[in-house]
Amino acid sequence: MKLSDVRQLVQVKTPVLSRKRRTLATAWNVAEYRAAARRVLPAGIFDYLDGGAEDEATLVRNRSVFDRWGLMPAWGSLTVPTTTTTLLGRDIALPLTLTPTGATRLFHPEGELAVGRAAAAAGLPYVLAGLSTVAMEDLAATSPDLDRWFNIGLSPDKGYLASKLERCEAAGFHTLVVGVDTRALGSRERDRRNGFTAPPALTLASLIDIATRPGWWVNFLRADGIRFPNLEPAAAGGSMVTPSMWEQILGHSESGQGWDDLEELRMMWPGKIVLKGTVNPGDVARAASLGVDAVQLSNHGGRQLDHMLNPMDVIQESRQRVGDNIELIVDSGIRRGSDIVKALALGADACSIGRPYLYGLVAGGSAGVGRVIDILADELVRTMTLVGVSSVAELKANGATIVREVTAAVRDDVMPG
Ligand SMILES: Cc1cc2nc3c(=O)[nH]c(=O)nc-3n(C[C@H](O)[C@H](O)[C@H](O)COP(=O)(O)O)c2cc1C
Repeated sequence: MKLSDVRQLVQVKTPVLSRKRRTLATAWNVAEYRAAARRVLPAGIFDYLDGGAEDEATLVRNRSVFDRWGLMPAWGSLTVPTTTTTLLGRDIALPLTLTPTGATRLFHPEGELAVGRAAAAAGLPYVLAGLSTVAMEDLAATSPDLDRWFNIGLSPDKGYLASKLERCEAAGFHTLVVGVDTRALGSRERDRRNGFTAPPALTLASLIDIATRPGWWVNFLRADGIRFPNLEPAAAGGSMVTPSMWEQILGHSESGQGWDDLEELRMMWPGKIVLKGTVNPGDVARAASLGVDAVQLSNHGGRQLDHMLNPMDVIQESRQRVGDNIELIVDSGIRRGSDIVKALALGADACSIGRPYLYGLVAGGSAGVGRVIDILADELVRTMTLVGVSSVAELKANGATIVREVTAAVRDDVMPG
């Protein structure tokens, strides 16, 4: 080659010094955002985000389960796929929602407000957790266009519940997500071993940690204290949570609540209701018969009952039981556009992500959440193109011809630890 030819091959890129900008420019998939989040967070907080219950068998299977199905493309001319669809009567940009995750300001000082901005910009619904760290009214004020859902707990105190519903309605939350998988708290042994609390207690170990993750600690200590303002029946700040309050909150469970309470909620709430946290087609059918609008099939990301089935195991049976009477959302392990394609082909209407958007939040704030959504959108469009479907409706209608059950391979990409 002549020197002038060689010169044409040379590409000198200016090194990007900011870690956040470097991640935003160079992380190509959710797994790389996970790795970036791990570099930013203190180990105990990363474990709280990433870990699962007991042996983490469910957590690991939440990834490998997607290998149970292969994709079978059909060739022919195709228009560029559109990913828009409707969910609970509203148009959404992708068959995707952002599922509730408590204590989000632990991961980034802007917490849920940053997630809400990204979800609104992407045209996706976001479910604010009951244990969220910003008030629902503040989320509504900063993201007025956001499709706002609230993760409400059933309560034996109907007066408390009624005032909470009023609060949700006033703040423009039109959909309630009722969790049914926390009758007891899953034993997350990483958290127990780490002595994890939210906020983290200042112990000798955390002081040592400050030396290794100074950036996170500076941001955390400079920000307002952690509060759970949506636990209150009325809009009020709520007091700062301390490590001992966190233990009390987690120790509290509502195992006495059941179908009657759900039926009562159905009568009290004119908006949409989603039941979240079952993998039992019988529960799906019963929810449909009570007038629940959607079920979010979920094993809580492997954080609650270890060895619980994955939603992918039960989508087809659930769909057969309820027909089109109810919408089905699937979470727990969604990391790729192809996962969404498989879930929809088996009968889901949409998928939902938890940890992936948190990885984005940790690594890049609201822009990081947006980038993770963009990555999944990109992968979804590419997979739809390669499979040969041009719309979500076509994917759902032709699902049976697109996925085939195969023998699962062993994988080691997203292992805990
Ligand atoms: C840090 C964290 C906090 C969570 N908090 C809640 C919660 O408050 N309420 C709830 O119903 N689910 C909660 N979940 C479970 C998620 O809503 C969702 O079911 C799960 O994360 C989906 O799996 P994925 O993380 O593999 O996407 C939480 C999950 C994580 C990772």
